[in-house]
Amino acid sequence: MTVKWCGNFYECEIGHSPLDVIGWHGNYAPYKYDLRTFSPVGALLFDHPDPSIFTVMTAPSGEDGTANVDFVIFPERWLVAEHSFRPPWYHMNIMSEFMGLIYGRYDAKPDGFVPGGMSLHNCMLPHGPDLSAYQKAATEELKPRRLTDTLAFMFETRFPQQLTSYAASLATLQPDYGKCWDGLDRKFNGKP
Ligand SMILES: [Fe+2]
Repeated sequence: MTVKWCGNFYECEIGHSPLDVIGWHGNYAPYKYDLRTFSPVGALLFDHPDPSIFTVMTAPSGEDGTANVDFVIFPERWLVAEHSFRPPWYHMNIMSEFMGLIYGRYDAKPDGFVPGGMSLHNCMLPHGPDLSAYQKAATEELKPRRLTDTLAFMFETRFPQQLTSYAASLATLQPDYGKCWDGLDRKFNGKP
């Protein structure tokens, strides 16, 4: 079990799951929740609202518009917005965004973000859909479409996130991640 306290990680080994309890004393309460039962809200006519609409839990801060941490999911849902670019737009954010894909495909990076994969976009780092997601969203007919077989999560926090040396040296690190946006700087004509 690993616990983060005052910026440092502490680890201890226990012979059972910390969730295997019938009661819990203290400030932390383990809770098991099926994220597939969360009902998202979204755009019913046009536009792409800020992903904070998908917040499942939040630890608010004293600053309006920021949170110490939001836990957000992107579950199966209907896409119905007209005259809109439906995936997340290209943006920078004062909040740091740590994402992961639990299963299925993520619409903003359908081939470049596999289940078990994680991404970190620290505060004010520009990001957005990859080239193939852009091409699809920019050209497809905007009929109502149900996103199925997908569940992604995001921890969004006003604090910059630092990598551990372990994470920074993993063999699965994707050093060419930035290439997923190659081609977006050219004028898109449907055949880049
Ligand atoms: Fe983002």
